[in-house]
Amino acid sequence: MSELKSGILVLDYGSQYTLLIARRIREMGVYCEVWPCNDERVGQFVESGDLPSAGLILSGGPSSVSIDGAPQLQGGLLDLEIPILGICYGMQLLADARGGRVEPSEVGEYGRTTIVIDEPVGLFHGFDEGESLDVWMSHGDAVVESPQGFNRVASTENGLLAAMADEEAGRYGLQFHPEVSHTEQGEVLLENFVFHVCGCSDEWNMSNFLETHIAQIREQVGDDERVICGLSGGVDSSVVAAMLHRAIGDRLTCVFVDNGLLRHREGEKVRTIFEDHFGVDLRVVDARDKFLSRLEGVVDPEEKRVVIGETFIEVFDEVAAEIDNAKYLAQGTLYPDVIESVSVRGPSATIKSHHNVGGLPEELDFELIEPLRELFKDEVRVLGRTLGLPADMVDRHPFPGPGLAVRILGEITPERLEIVRAADHIFIEGLRKDELYHSVWQAFAVLLPVRTVGVMGDSRTYDQVIALRAVTSRDGMTADRAHLPMDFLGRMSDQIINQVKGVNRVVYDVSSKPPATIEWE
Ligand code: XMP
Repeated sequence: MSELKSGILVLDYGSQYTLLIARRIREMGVYCEVWPCNDERVGQFVESGDLPSAGLILSGGPSSVSIDGAPQLQGGLLDLEIPILGICYGMQLLADARGGRVEPSEVGEYGRTTIVIDEPVGLFHGFDEGESLDVWMSHGDAVVESPQGFNRVASTENGLLAAMADEEAGRYGLQFHPEVSHTEQGEVLLENFVFHVCGCSDEWNMSNFLETHIAQIREQVGDDERVICGLSGGVDSSVVAAMLHRAIGDRLTCVFVDNGLLRHREGEKVRTIFEDHFGVDLRVVDARDKFLSRLEGVVDPEEKRVVIGETFIEVFDEVAAEIDNAKYLAQGTLYPDVIESVSVRGPSATIKSHHNVGGLPEELDFELIEPLRELFKDEVRVLGRTLGLPADMVDRHPFPGPGLAVRILGEITPERLEIVRAADHIFIEGLRKDELYHSVWQAFAVLLPVRTVGVMGDSRTYDQVIALRAVTSRDGMTADRAHLPMDFLGRMSDQIINQVKGVNRVVYDVSSKPPATIEWE
């Protein structure tokens, strides 16, 4: 909370861009949090007259201010003496509350629109009168009459109100989205709000985040208790472990469960970094046989996830019981997970049950420590580097909790695991060597449940097929096929077929998400 006092609070009214607002502001070096619009802490601040932050942003949202059940401004919010910026639906809420008129516009505006600046004040500080900007609109309703105290400061080419300001009260409204990259100079408008209007300074960075949170962890854990941390080999759990180790040293025990479904030499890498380099108390549990025997005959993707999730909890539970004084469990929950679970948007349909093997065994009786709860993925990477984790660990592609099990279509056997692991290793090393690894968001090999005819030497073969998948994405929610060079893919195919016994054909997956998903299962 103390960081937020000098930062910006965003109230989420359900826009798909809300998280982007927070990202943009943090990129400026200013701390920013998102709360659901109906968060009860807002009411507490209104009651006490205390301010939660240096400025407040009301996000956009899919609703219409006039319809029943539409999210509203919490009572008394506008009485707080705090600068407020309303974006899209947020601006309509401001207008509605101050006697402006909001109506469904005859021409809904979606996508790129040109606006003209009428008065270069407030957020338009430093711009010229009459200057035009291409901005990104996405709205059906419009403010057709400015509310009391507000001036029109920018208009669209259709003559609609694009921006309004009540300079005296420190209230601003933008009908378009300054947070999306398609809005020209959008970051300047946000900077003007954050620095010029709210008076924030750009002091928030990973080093002071680390200092504050290490002190908090020390205070929470005290002098005698121990903390357990499940290490999966992925970025998030590795950063959590490194941070906990910095905070409490040898009172941290990390547990790495080798489920047999990991990538090439994953266990060895974890040992080298955490045991040899950091000197962490690491328990490596070889549970390969247990997992593989439970997975025998299982072909359904969701059933694989359930079996793996349950087996993980069982194994973790056994190890945890052997660690004396372990009161806390540290895990790598990220900010998007936190927001998703409390957002006004409500739960979205489950496409796949993402059980993260580094995740929380719910039945265990621990208090949680979640030091990454306030961070986005790329901020976690910066934190990892600040903590001294090696670059190739910090910049790794995401890897699903159920591991290679969901990259083997059909039954999982030790032989099929070896095939997909070896093919994946060739592909990933190839990407690194050709400096393509960081141009894609995720890349991997999948073993298909078919056999095809081939010819090797003078003999006919009847062998298995590997599919290569590489996608570009921002967050894994949507993804596009990566345009890898054909000669590179050709070389990968040759190497895999020549080096991985049992494979005689390689294909490249060119589907996007949606309608496909990134993983095949
Ligand atoms: P999909 O396949 O749903 O994947 O497009 C989106 C992202 O999530 C990862 N993924 C998982 N991660 N447990 C996880 O921890 C899972 O069961 C799981 N399934 C998919 C996937 O690798 C991609 O990064």
